[in-house]
Amino acid sequence: MAEILRALVSKSVAAVGLMAFLLAGCEKVPSPEFRANRVEWVKQERLNLEADQQFAPEYREQVDTLLTTLFGTPDEPRLPAIYGDEDPLNQLVSLDRLRLAAGPVSSDEKGKHWGLYREHCAHCHGITGDGAGPTALALYPYPRDFRLGKYKFKSTPLRRPPTDADLVRVIRRGIPGSAMPAFTTLPEEEVLALVDYVKYLTIRGEYERRLLAELPGLEGEPLVDLKALRAGSTKQATAGANAGANQKEAGGGSEQPELPAEQEALNAQLQTLVGEYLYEEIVDRWSDRDESITEVPAPPADLMSTAAPPQEWVAKGRDLFFGKANCVQCHGATGLGDGQTQNYDDWTNDWLKTPGVDVLSKQTYQHFLEAGALPPRPVRPRNLRIPVYRGGKAPADIYRRIANGIEGTPMPSSPSLTPEEVWAVVAYVQAMPYERLSGGDAAMSARPVGGREVSGK
Ligand code: HEC
Ligand code: HEC
Repeated sequence: MAEILRALVSKSVAAVGLMAFLLAGCEKVPSPEFRANRVEWVKQERLNLEADQQFAPEYREQVDTLLTTLFGTPDEPRLPAIYGDEDPLNQLVSLDRLRLAAGPVSSDEKGKHWGLYREHCAHCHGITGDGAGPTALALYPYPRDFRLGKYKFKSTPLRRPPTDADLVRVIRRGIPGSAMPAFTTLPEEEVLALVDYVKYLTIRGEYERRLLAELPGLEGEPLVDLKALRAGSTKQATAGANAGANQKEAGGGSEQPELPAEQEALNAQLQTLVGEYLYEEIVDRWSDRDESITEVPAPPADLMSTAAPPQEWVAKGRDLFFGKANCVQCHGATGLGDGQTQNYDDWTNDWLKTPGVDVLSKQTYQHFLEAGALPPRPVRPRNLRIPVYRGGKAPADIYRRIANGIEGTPMPSSPSLTPEEVWAVVAYVQAMPYERLSGGDAAMSARPVGGREVSGK
């Protein structure tokens, strides 16, 4: 994929497409606006500059212009489509669906709804998808900040984006034991629109972070030459208005003799900023995600033969839990989730790990809170004596959580366990809510809830 893109981007067709697209992006910005990622900005400053130094404020305009040009606004989303019909971002996210999910809440006489994201999601996840909507502070865990590009409950391994089916499932079923509600009654069309909108906010957010990470290396040079960008757009507009006329005439470049060179430099800049950072680094990962789905191997036959997991499997799983798999380290000797409890998740660690920040002293991170970071709260290992599973309670769901881990949290993947061993641990996890805590023997007092089918729907 990346090869094809590189080939495409080097052709002038792509450059022309890019310019035409940028030209269309210069309208006025309607409200509400996407909120800038100030936390990442401040973090990059702290990591790269002297204590009293700051990035030039002009960078903010340059980043905003690029983002708005490529992704539009909360009321009018857009997609770059610089590779025409083949554009991988347009194959990943449909602009029609985005339009259903974006904008203010409204509906027509036929009952078609718009503004789905603002109606159902924004009060928790925020207009920008930064997880900092008005209700966020009252919730544990916090609503997800999509901009980090990390997802917990998915069929793909760590560091891979979730599939559409994973996102549909999270929206349909909600996340039990968290504030994330189940949207059981939304029509399919609306759920799919929301899935595309989540992908859109995520990719936009990942791209913003990528651009901000460039700032330290620029040493005062502009990220993108806005003057050349605007001049280029004007030139294109003139050329467009004189369609059919001689291009040289239409450019009429006597006042701007330096334009072609500037234009060339701008195009080169955009090949890197858009072709490389957005498409190759971010969009390609999303396009390839279906190839990495983790298949759940069939459980050993005798494991599924009875209503509750057979004792020998539970015992084997228990040995692994307290031994080789070392689940006890976090979930605790009692399984109540009282082992290692002072960990933070990646959304918090992202800025909390900045040198000079001490979680015990608020003064050391006040500037991050002012930039919009939510106060740090430790991520608690799950209490496994209560049979509530955020990622689903079917054996196959629990299998995936143990085998793949839970991205963004301390819960690790288990590459050293064989499939049979993972199944044994699943059996023990399923038995834990019914195991007597005192008296030594892992005696079962009831059968697990939820039946014994392997995979949930
Ligand atoms: C009442 C608050 C609330 C509302 C409303 C809400 N969410 Fe969530 N959502 C959450 C919380 C809290 C989490 C984080 C759960 C966790 O980390 O375990 C979350 C997580 C998610 C995730 C991440 C799932 C994963 O696998 O990591 C997605 C995607 C998501 N929500 C989408 C949506 C969409 C789409 C809507 C609107 C249709 C929505 N949410 C509405 C609170 C909410
Ligand atoms: C380094 C700490 C750590 C270790 C080791 C660990 N866990 Fe976890 N586990 C967590 C945390 C933290 C969570 C909560 C993640 C979240 O916020 O959703 C969790 C969640 C879970 C869940 C809940 C899944 C769901 O869908 O809600 C299960 C089940 C689980 N762990 C089982 C295990 C098993 C079995 C092992 C050993 C193979 C293990 N854990 C090892 C930290 C750990």
